[in-house]
Amino acid sequence: MINKNLNIIILAAGKGKRMNSNYPKVLHTLGDKPILQHVIDLAKSIHSKQIYLIYNHKYKLFKSIITDPYIIWIKQKKTLGTGNAIYQMINILKNDEDYLILYGDMPLISNKSIKKLIFSKKKSSISLLTAIIKNPEEYGRVIREKGKITKIIEFSDATKKQLKIHEINSGIFIASGKTLKNLTKNIKNQNTNKEYYITDIIYLAYQKKHKITAIHPIDNNEIKGINNKVQLSIIEKLYQQKKINNLLLSGVTIYNPSNFNLKGTLKHGKNIEIDYGVILEGHVILGNSVKIGPGCVIKDSIIGNNCSIKAYTIMEKVTISNNCIIGPFSHLRHGTILKNNTQIGNFVEIKETIVGHASKIKHLSYLGNSKIGKKVNIGAGTIFCNYDGKKKSNTIIGNNVFIGSNCQLVAPITIANDTVIAAGTTVIKNVKEPSLVYNKKKEIQKKIKTLK
Ligand code: UD1
Ligand code: MG
Repeated sequence: MINKNLNIIILAAGKGKRMNSNYPKVLHTLGDKPILQHVIDLAKSIHSKQIYLIYNHKYKLFKSIITDPYIIWIKQKKTLGTGNAIYQMINILKNDEDYLILYGDMPLISNKSIKKLIFSKKKSSISLLTAIIKNPEEYGRVIREKGKITKIIEFSDATKKQLKIHEINSGIFIASGKTLKNLTKNIKNQNTNKEYYITDIIYLAYQKKHKITAIHPIDNNEIKGINNKVQLSIIEKLYQQKKINNLLLSGVTIYNPSNFNLKGTLKHGKNIEIDYGVILEGHVILGNSVKIGPGCVIKDSIIGNNCSIKAYTIMEKVTISNNCIIGPFSHLRHGTILKNNTQIGNFVEIKETIVGHASKIKHLSYLGNSKIGKKVNIGAGTIFCNYDGKKKSNTIIGNNVFIGSNCQLVAPITIANDTVIAAGTTVIKNVKEPSLVYNKKKEIQKKIKTLK
């Protein structure tokens, strides 16, 4: 249900200078999507009235990547600080509605922690998400007097004594539109960086005797921000770890979790085994009893029950039925559909092809734009010549066809059921009825003088 009293503002206009990259910080990838998209997805899970996104430059690039229709884009012309970012909202803020501020560079924040924060706002004017951490590094420090929060001091403005404080500001907070409007107007930029800090509203609120509450996130890792590539790599590891733990808990065997990379989502049955160095991208679905060998890269594919995908197999947009054996070193490209009990072996490339029940293509072949019947054997080194330099043409192979090694089938071409094509044959004409097909060649054997 939509919370009509709550709005979310995501700050994403910062230059991200510390990333040392031409690419906007919040568009860098974490797992399977941009850092900012993680924050947007979290925001969507809160079911607020509106989601505002404060951006600054590269609008076209942002719009091409962040495509959510729910977002209201607000431009911060000059990145003069987080306080100035909120100031862009000044005429939009509604006195009697609440505003949750999220940072676009803090992607691990959880729905549970945010719900806790929203709940805590009920009894106060501003509610902050803070944490007690061992090594507070560059976070803003929470200053308290007799237990009461009086201000937040930024790392670059803090005294040595203040730097020893372990309670840090996550940056995430919630306040009413009225509070935010009245206090943001009065933020000054008298600090080391000459920036307007949104965190200064805490001191302004304290002076005006507003009630300020602080609560902690469920897990301190949630509030790790990304300001440089070291932090990005740390967060990537945490993100992976969380997803891998969930898979392990749901019964998947992962032989070397630190070398497994899940860049998307995995739906799976029982008895799944994933070996060393596997990468799963996009949406992958595995049935029961699927084994994935070392070094496989599987993207946006569905694999049925009792399948074995052997080492270093690459596949994208592929559908595999039950009891299939693939690899090692197979390359299955988009539009490959393998029916039950098929076997694909090493150095076989397949694209836009349906392979029928119990057919085998075990060595060194290329099959493109084709349909292969049941119980077909395609010999080593066979090539479907599907491209004439201008267009792609189809190859249709019937059931029980046996193709010997090193054959070429020049498409468009159709081969009748039960045909046998002899090794080394180039087939250029349709085979309309069960036949033995071979090219007439004369074998010459000349006696030679041996070298010794
Ligand atoms: C901020 C907080 C700090 C907190 C830390 C947690 C302030 C002043 N400081 O510091 O107390 O401990 O986060 O990670 O807020 N942004 C804009 N417009 C700007 C500047 C920044 O939209 O003009 C956005 C950035 O894109 C980013 C977020 O605001 O998503 C935070 O900015 P950043 O520069 O990363 O602040 P921190 O130094 O991390
Ligand atoms: Mg930051």
